[in-house]
Amino acid sequence: MDILQALPLERDDPFEPPAVLGELHGPLHRMIYADGRPGWLVTGHAEARVVLDDPRFSNTSQGAAPPIKELAPPEGLTDLVIPPGFFIAMDDPGHSRYRRLLTGHFSMRRMRLLEPRIQEIIDGLLDEIARTGAPADLVSAFALPVPSLVICELLGVPYQERSRFQATTARAVNLDSPVEERGAAGAELMGYLSELVARKRAAPGQDLISQLATGGELSHEELTGVATLLLTAGHETTANMLALGTFLLLCRPEQAELVRTDPGVAATAVEELMRYLSITHIGPIRVARADVPLAGRTIKAGETVTLSLPAVNRDPARFPDPGRFDVTREAGPQLGFGHGIHQCLGQQLARLEMRLAYPALLRRFPGLRLAVPAAEVPLRQRATIYGVAALPVTW
Ligand code: HEM
Repeated sequence: MDILQALPLERDDPFEPPAVLGELHGPLHRMIYADGRPGWLVTGHAEARVVLDDPRFSNTSQGAAPPIKELAPPEGLTDLVIPPGFFIAMDDPGHSRYRRLLTGHFSMRRMRLLEPRIQEIIDGLLDEIARTGAPADLVSAFALPVPSLVICELLGVPYQERSRFQATTARAVNLDSPVEERGAAGAELMGYLSELVARKRAAPGQDLISQLATGGELSHEELTGVATLLLTAGHETTANMLALGTFLLLCRPEQAELVRTDPGVAATAVEELMRYLSITHIGPIRVARADVPLAGRTIKAGETVTLSLPAVNRDPARFPDPGRFDVTREAGPQLGFGHGIHQCLGQQLARLEMRLAYPALLRRFPGLRLAVPAAEVPLRQRATIYGVAALPVTW
């Protein structure tokens, strides 16, 4: 049996999972974590769902071993500190208290009401790109502003204050910087949101933070944590999907053509892009609270389990011909938004943004192509969320 010495992250091909993952046999593997402790890596789709469904696997990160050295807690601490309200890192029942307050605000029905405004935001940005002229960096001109503008409107964060959260979020998730610096960026971001929550309490608007601020269920600190989670989760991830997904489509013109010309394809294309690219490439991560049997082995209490979504979403036991990128593939259960109690709260929002953005971009610029050779597009190989740092295009 092979023992992995670290979580494989580097991709030889920007659209393929790390090669090491393709050489593994079976759904569950021994992996040595960055602090020397042994743990596990899940690469099977069925096994990943079992882990995410089982409350014996905790998501508090307490006691978790770091799958890569960059995720180790700061010197002198054994665990990362989780702020109040940061429910992605809580188990039930604590977690469900927050989730219950928020679910209705992110339902499919609620998101549908946002559709015209999201389309307007997308069209406005495309107008601006056309006005400025070629070449353009699609990350800064489109992929980042689309989800940022949308989540700002939803939460009630003034977009003109984006310098206070976009760069800070980028710093907080940039694994090239030392953990202390990332912690400082996170604290700065929370400081900004704490100030904003206070402003909303004093002068509420129609937005989500105002509604939660006046609802009386959350303390100031809790709402600050919730708002920080929603703002960061709401723009970094979708931005990376929009940019990396466009990069892939530009490299597969026949698939891009289907997205451009067939309105019925957008929804399946989004699921296939999510499956194929799996930008959440570190985790979800869980810690076993009891001995749990899985795939014929026993995961011992206290051991860390990391899911590899790039492998899970290419599991041949679940997806026929998993290496084939096909935007018409029948929508299958890709796990790019997770599964179980922590499954992505904003998934309907992200889906809607992507479903509108890719076709609109390809229709507006039918001659859209890379402005540099594909090999020169800078990749975010060791970031928390995989993607491209820039996407130079022309048309
Ligand atoms: C393409 C874009 C997105 C991807 C790939 C993505 C991915 C994920 C994944 C994999 C999880 C589960 C984490 C775990 O189990 O530990 C998650 C949770 C979450 N996501 Fe997303 N996400 C995206 C967009 C969004 C958006 C737009 C929002 C907006 C609010 C959002 C908010 C959240 C929140 C709040 C959670 C935590 C849910 C909970 O713990 O109950 N995400 N996301």
